[in-house]
Amino acid sequence: MQNQSPANPAVIEISKVTTRFADHVVHSGVDLKVHRAEIFALVGGSGSGKSTLLREMILLQRPDTGSIKVLGVDLNHIADPAALSLRLRWGVMFQHGGLFGSLTVNENVGLPLREHTGLNGAWINEIAAWKIAMTGLEPEVGEKYPVELSGGMLKRASLARALALDPELLFLDEPTAGLDPESADDVDQLILKLREMFGLTIVMITHDLDLLWQVADRVAVLAEGKVQGIGSMAELSQLDNPAVRKFFDGPRGRAAHEQKQNEAQTPAKNSSGIARSAWKQK
Ligand SMILES: Nc1ncnc2c1ncn2[C@@H]1O[C@H](COP(=O)(O)OP(=O)(O)OP(=O)(O)O)[C@@H](O)[C@H]1O
Ligand SMILES: [Mg+2]
Repeated sequence: MQNQSPANPAVIEISKVTTRFADHVVHSGVDLKVHRAEIFALVGGSGSGKSTLLREMILLQRPDTGSIKVLGVDLNHIADPAALSLRLRWGVMFQHGGLFGSLTVNENVGLPLREHTGLNGAWINEIAAWKIAMTGLEPEVGEKYPVELSGGMLKRASLARALALDPELLFLDEPTAGLDPESADDVDQLILKLREMFGLTIVMITHDLDLLWQVADRVAVLAEGKVQGIGSMAELSQLDNPAVRKFFDGPRGRAAHEQKQNEAQTPAKNSSGIARSAWKQK
């Protein structure tokens, strides 16, 4: 678990957020904090308001009441120029990639640099190639169009674009959804590496219990408009709250927990031959 002392201030502070669509109440008082260099996960049933909360954190939507501060800036009182400069400090990997189909991977990754920096084309290509390599894609993938990529490659290309402007904060919507187990395992490692190498703060929405057990420092369970439990997976697994129990006691939750306990006894090797538990240096 990351240090949560005042020396490690909150990068995101959500306080008393309420959101409704017509008479449908989605959030009825959400409170949570995400700390610097933390890998934080948001979980909850379908329709519990995870994506809506994410959209509120990245200025795509406003809550009805309450406050959200990101990187020390109160999103309720933000003017356009400040909003733009704040947007440049985070990267977002959308669930379905969100890449432009008419651009190659190189062009997609270079786009934020072209739009927001005064760098010349050669520099932009160089940086885009570096970001693409960082996500584990071969250089020739840069010449391809999104439609030519597998699901795993699309996720990586989308991540490379999210990293284009060296963000401090990264939002990942279902980073492993639809991937085969080996590709999902690679994504686990990539997320840990990004935090270790660059001290990135990472907020992810996921249903992937393996990703949660292997990678997340803390997890918030959203249900009935509120955070029902927050803590490490080990801490959450001890809570009595019914929404939290539902999350752990379903067949998939039990299987993931049992696997984690088995791994603790005999650490599983990941594809690079390193015991997975060794990556989790808390
Ligand atoms: N723009 C909108 N207009 C009306 N209702 C909306 C809108 N956006 C979201 N909702 C509703 O708000 C609720 C929460 O949606 P949200 O997408 O945040 O859920 P979620 O937790 O991300 O679910 P999932 O796991 O299925 O992605 C849902 O009932 C959804 O129908
Ligand atoms: Mg969603």
